[in-house]
Amino acid sequence: MTGLTVLASGKGGVGKTFLAVTLAHALARRGRRVLVVDADLGLGNIEVQLGLEPGIALARAIRAGLDLRRLVRRHEACGFALIGGSGSGEALAGLTTARLERAVAGLGELADGFDDVLVDLPSGLGRIATTFVAAASRLVVVGNNEPTTLTDNYAFIKLTRGTAPIPWFLANDVADATEGAQADGTLARACRRFLALDSVALGHVRRDPRVPEAIRRQMPYLDRSPGGLAAADIEKVAKRLARPLDQPR
Ligand SMILES: Nc1ncnc2c1ncn2[C@@H]1O[C@H](COP(=O)(O)OP(=O)(O)OP(=O)(O)O)[C@@H](O)[C@H]1O
Ligand SMILES: [Mg+2]
Repeated sequence: MTGLTVLASGKGGVGKTFLAVTLAHALARRGRRVLVVDADLGLGNIEVQLGLEPGIALARAIRAGLDLRRLVRRHEACGFALIGGSGSGEALAGLTTARLERAVAGLGELADGFDDVLVDLPSGLGRIATTFVAAASRLVVVGNNEPTTLTDNYAFIKLTRGTAPIPWFLANDVADATEGAQADGTLARACRRFLALDSVALGHVRRDPRVPEAIRRQMPYLDRSPGGLAAADIEKVAKRLARPLDQPR
């Protein structure tokens, strides 16, 4: 069973969307069959980051009870499949919890046709994020070394721990490996001490001015900056994610 790997964070703007797309790209380059899902329903921006025309918005499809297989598109240049989320926020109105849960279960079934399914979540503790986290087989918590991110991510983990799988920390936008380890370590210690919760350090991705530049140009970062600082780190993280979940970490 492939299961869903969700990218979440308590705080917004930490790089979930960039990482979901770029990790999917790196995994696809390793020859894996990858699906990336924009679950930032109504406010999705994976299609914008990649410069694609929006397809059927996931929120609209869920509300209408459509078969989610109809939404899967291929990004030929990146070599992965995609379910986009673009669309106006109004599509969220009328999205019942029952329909949302059914859709998440449907994605879980769809996942079996892939080696990796990466789900880009909205930040915070809204219903969409918590529903996906509860159904995920792997929870990647994206953060950085800022105290506001650390406290928001700690709150996120604390409030989802009854239903969520153990958190895998991914430090983004850090100066170097030391700062990445500091960000991960602070959160890991707090989880262990106050929540008696184990976690996994997935790695770090360095700050790279070529990331915002690629996004501004709506181009895949790995194509634009294959030798970039963040590219080397993302390759390492992708390699780690590609290992089966039941193998030693
Ligand atoms: N490693 C990095 N180096 C430099 N800039 C980065 C890096 N990662 C992300 N960014 C910048 O951070 C900004 C936010 O990234 P992104 O939109 O992926 O965050 P997000 O967590 O998905 O935000 P939201 O919570 O709003 O969905 C982007 O404009 C991007 O340029
Ligand atoms: Mg995002």
